[in-house]
Amino acid sequence: MKIFIDSADVKEIKEVESWGILDGVTTNPSLVAKTGREIKECVTEITKIVDGPISVEVISTDAAGMVKEAEEWAKVNPKNITIKIPMSIEGLKAVKVLAGKNIKTNVTLVFSPNQALLAAKAGATFISPFVGRLDDISHFGMEIVGDIVQIYDNYGLTTEIIVASVRNPLHVVEAARMGAHVSTIPFNVLKQMVAHPLTDIGIKKFFDDYQKIPKK
Ligand code: E4P
Repeated sequence: MKIFIDSADVKEIKEVESWGILDGVTTNPSLVAKTGREIKECVTEITKIVDGPISVEVISTDAAGMVKEAEEWAKVNPKNITIKIPMSIEGLKAVKVLAGKNIKTNVTLVFSPNQALLAAKAGATFISPFVGRLDDISHFGMEIVGDIVQIYDNYGLTTEIIVASVRNPLHVVEAARMGAHVSTIPFNVLKQMVAHPLTDIGIKKFFDDYQKIPKK
C-alpha cells in the first residue's frame, strides 16, 4: 500500500520524506490555511520535496471553472500535480474532461460506494473516501472502503482508492488489510505507527546490557 501524508506543512513533509516511506501528498484548503502561506508558493515547494502525486483542491463549483483551475495547477508540475475535485455532477463532468487531457484527478469528499463507482466510471485517477468523518457521525467509515475495493475488483476499475480522513493507526491497518491502494495519513498518526512500547523497552534493555559487557 502506498503512503501519502495528509499535510501542507513543508516541515512535516520533509521529515517524513526522509524516512524513506513517502509516496505522495494530499492537501486541502483547510490544511493550506493552517500553514498561513500563499497556496501556490506552498504547493510549488511541496512538489520540490516529493516526487509522487500531490493533490491540490479546486474551489470552483462548475465544471468549466474546475477545468480552468486544474490546467493552471498542472503547469506547476505536469507529472505529479493531481487535482482534487469534489464529488458532484459538475465534478464528474470536470473529471471526464481532465482524463481526456491526461491531468490526474482525485475525487474528494466521497462518502458512499455509489459515489466511488461513478467517479471511477468518469475516469478519476484516485478517489478519497473520508473514513474519519463517517466515524464522526456514527457510520463505520472503513465499511465503505471494503465495499469500494470489492466493486472495483468486480469490474476491473483501475481508479486507486485513497483512504482519507484517517484519525488513528487502526484505520491504516484496516486499509491495508482490505487492499486499498493508498492511505493518506496525518503526521501525528504516522508517528503513532512507528511507536511501540515494547520496542522502546527493548532498545533501553539492549543499551543497558551493552554497558555490562567487559571492555578491553
Ligand atoms: C484528504 O485528502 C483530506 O485532506 C483529509 O484526509 C481530510 O481529513 P479530515 O477529515 O481530518 O479533515
